Amino acid sequence: MIVKKIEDALNKQINAEFHSSFLYLSMSADFASKNFDGFASWFGVQTREEYEHAMKVYSHVIERGGKVKLTEIAAPKTSWKTALEAFEDVYAHEQMMTGMIYNLMDLAREEKDYATEEMLRWFVNEQVEEESNTLKIVEQLKMIGDSKGSLFQIDHRLAKRGENRK
Ligand code: FEO
Repeated sequence: MIVKKIEDALNKQINAEFHSSFLYLSMSADFASKNFDGFASWFGVQTREEYEHAMKVYSHVIERGGKVKLTEIAAPKTSWKTALEAFEDVYAHEQMMTGMIYNLMDLAREEKDYATEEMLRWFVNEQVEEESNTLKIVEQLKMIGDSKGSLFQIDHRLAKRGENRK
């Protein structure tokens, strides 16, 4: 059985993961409309991953005899001026998500909820990967400056993330 305090906090996390999914879908739509198919595809993969994150927490709440409460998802931004601006947003967003996971981990430890702690450990590792991947892209986009050719090369390379996942 799950205590109410943890159930509430996990429900907030479910909402935050769905919001992340929505945010990346919005980025995917924006970059698709600008013919950057690689960026659109990368964000598309990210959207699906975030949905899976939400469902991982969802399943945990149900398995532990808790109640999932789905709530309104905040509307994401709809347009980004540059790929760098979008990836800087992704990086900041992922840092915020890491903070949420750490807070949940603190709570699980306080409440001696070892099952939730175990489930969250996966997220701790996942966040390291998410931050590292996005920071690398931010740094690369900064490095290329205004070079359109290099931008298209990065766009082309990021398209492969979707292909590899199939
Ligand atoms: Fe599920 Fe990217 O945080």
